[in-house]
Amino acid sequence: MSSISKYSKINSLKSVKKCLFPAAGYGTRFLPATKAMPKEMLPVLTKPLIQYGVEEAVSAGIDTMAIVTGRGKRAIEDHFDVSYELEHQIKGTSKESYLTEIRNLIDNCTFSYTRQVEMKGLGHAILTGKTLIGDEPFAVILADDLCDNNDEDPVLKQMVEVYEKYRCCVVAIEEVPKEETNKYGVIDGKIVDGNESVLRVSNMVEKPDPKDAPTNLAIIGRYILTPDIFDVIENTKPGKGGEIQITDALLELAQQGKVIAYKFQGKRFDCGSIEGFVEATNYFHDKAK
Ligand code: UTP
Repeated sequence: MSSISKYSKINSLKSVKKCLFPAAGYGTRFLPATKAMPKEMLPVLTKPLIQYGVEEAVSAGIDTMAIVTGRGKRAIEDHFDVSYELEHQIKGTSKESYLTEIRNLIDNCTFSYTRQVEMKGLGHAILTGKTLIGDEPFAVILADDLCDNNDEDPVLKQMVEVYEKYRCCVVAIEEVPKEETNKYGVIDGKIVDGNESVLRVSNMVEKPDPKDAPTNLAIIGRYILTPDIFDVIENTKPGKGGEIQITDALLELAQQGKVIAYKFQGKRFDCGSIEGFVEATNYFHDKAK
């Protein structure tokens, strides 16, 4: 899809206008690469993970990016800013086109940042983003979960459509091998409207042992959240690993029937793990051939 047609879809009548990127984590699984460089800047081919995420948000009609950063994450801000010297240097050469996609994002989106001072977990990172989101529904992308589907129907766009139908929180889920449930938030729920891809969530557990997992339906790094989640997170106690877990906060809304789980169409790569990162690199390399 050309960049012009992508951006022309963005308009102020959209139900979900902002996307939050929690990007303050330490990325310890990728040390030493992540010692001085944010995990979100690791490239799959030539593009950093977070740029894939921003492009997915744009494809869902979102033009306002809210990024939760932390110490050592300045490269993210620099990436979504112009680099006059570099652009001047390659102007008129064959290399100019390498910057076209990122330049389009910079010209057509707004990027704002806030810092999570203490890394107290994903729920806490989302709460830190409240100041950038305000009182409206918003999307959340964890950039290290790299998703791909055809250009017409990216994963976040599918989720915005589900949100527009049910007007409550939506979490993306996929089936994982039962022995891997201890890496994910896991849900249980009932199919809604006879659509096997849509479940009303009745239970959620953070990283359960396989023997305690209610199902093998795992939450991946895509959410649409309603702003009432902020009050709930404020009252959520630290859970698994001593961190404030978004799963625990969402469980409270789920018990009020306010959370939908959606089995998305497409592929997902856990680029926070070495195996997932290598798989994504091979996949995108094959796709680009
Ligand atoms: P992860 O647990 O996958 O990221 O958190 P991590 O902690 O950076 O990675 P490892 O396990 O040490 O390798 C999921 C997402 O939540 C963000 C991370 O940046 C990642 O995008 N996060 C997590 C925060 O922003 N703040 C936190 O306190 C924790």
